[in-house]
Amino acid sequence: MKKKSLFTIFMILTAVSMILAACGTGGDSTTGEGGKVKLIGGTEASFAPFEYLDDKGNIVGFDVEIVQAISEEMGFDYEIQNVGWDPIFSKIQTGEIDFGAAGITITEKRKETYDFTEPYYEATQLIIVRDDNTDIKSVEDLKDKKVAVQNASTSHVAAQKILGETSQNILAYENQPSAYQQVINGNVDAAIGDNTVVMEYLKSNPDAPIKTIEDPSFEKEYYGLMVKKGNKEALELLNEGLKKLKESGKLAEITGQEIDF
Ligand code: ARG
Repeated sequence: MKKKSLFTIFMILTAVSMILAACGTGGDSTTGEGGKVKLIGGTEASFAPFEYLDDKGNIVGFDVEIVQAISEEMGFDYEIQNVGWDPIFSKIQTGEIDFGAAGITITEKRKETYDFTEPYYEATQLIIVRDDNTDIKSVEDLKDKKVAVQNASTSHVAAQKILGETSQNILAYENQPSAYQQVINGNVDAAIGDNTVVMEYLKSNPDAPIKTIEDPSFEKEYYGLMVKKGNKEALELLNEGLKKLKESGKLAEITGQEIDF
């Protein structure tokens, strides 16, 4: 092939990929089947019971059921992708995904960059130590210990409050089970994790040599679905649907938690 036609092909490909890229970054919802709005959600699916993979590799759990029920109420299409924890945040920013459904705690800090639906679940943090541990009984005892957490999670922030923001004794992992695993392996003294997820982990791993410690100094947290700041279309659809699930009792049916907020 001549040099010139190769160049032409290259230019056409470049133009096409630029157009495609522009389509993907609008942050607006795309159109699904039959002209219905389609929202793309992102999650990190090792957070049972909120999201995990079943034996066929499907993403299942409370968050998926909630989004499914909301979409039925509001008549939109959706898809949830297992993108990983940190990418949920960056991909919402770039508009690659429309919302995060991942047991995401509504925090003042996150609210600077994202919008949240009304809360749908109340949670708090728990300390995890080895069964045979006798010297850790509360948050106070963690100060000079090695603590594992999920990176950039509210557990991470909790650990930073106790040990100091730049403490080298905080080890941050991509997901919560990896943090718990460090306790089991004896690589760290403790982990901090979301209470319902820790309890579910203990239920499915009854032989794991770990126990949990509650501490009243861990504040209550509330999970919400998260969108890019200003993405009113998605926020309103999700919020209105969520309201209906609260009113009908469907939300409580899914999560097993009676809430009055
Ligand atoms: N609730 C915690 C937070 O928002 C942890 C959420 C982790 N979610 C997940 N799917 N791995 O920081």
